[in-house]
Amino acid sequence: MRSAALCAGLGLFGIAAVARAADDPPPLAPADVKAGRTVYRHACASCHGARGEGASNWERPDAQGEMPAPSHDKRGHTWKHSDAMLYRIIQTGWRDEFNKTERLTMPAFAGQLSPKQTVAVITYLKTLWRSDQRRFQWEESRREPFPPEAR
Ligand code: HEC
Repeated sequence: MRSAALCAGLGLFGIAAVARAADDPPPLAPADVKAGRTVYRHACASCHGARGEGASNWERPDAQGEMPAPSHDKRGHTWKHSDAMLYRIIQTGWRDEFNKTERLTMPAFAGQLSPKQTVAVITYLKTLWRSDQRRFQWEESRREPFPPEAR
């Protein structure tokens, strides 16, 4: 009896595991989330906000004609970028092509954040998204994953 119940239990677990693999992104590694939160607090929060809420009025250019630091949470657009793209933005910096100035408004972190720390901070950002946003970003990242040095 007991072994039959155990088998049935394992069978159900098997189906659940297969269903998850087909539809849902894999769970985020807790160690990466924790390390990434620490990186975020030290390196990103001053511009992007303590909880990733973004600078005030981040959806509009500021007085210099530059886009302010956007929200990273579900109201922002960070989730629309693949892992490869997010990695590149953080390592090499970024500026909106329509900014009136030429400077990199999003500073480059190459040399300051290791590949592992960069992956960790991106992993932390993933905790700020809705599940449909996270699924979209996961699918994008299957086509454009982290670069080899970060894997
Ligand atoms: C000095 C302020 C500043 C710091 C510090 C900073 N950012 Fe940014 N970041 C910006 C600005 C400003 C933009 C918008 C650039 C633009 O669109 O012109 C931006 C844009 C981005 C983008 C692309 C926009 C998007 O779709 O979300 C990502 C991703 C990002 N930052 C991640 C980070 C991470 C992760 C850190 C910490 C490692 C960080 N930033 C630290 C100012 C900053």
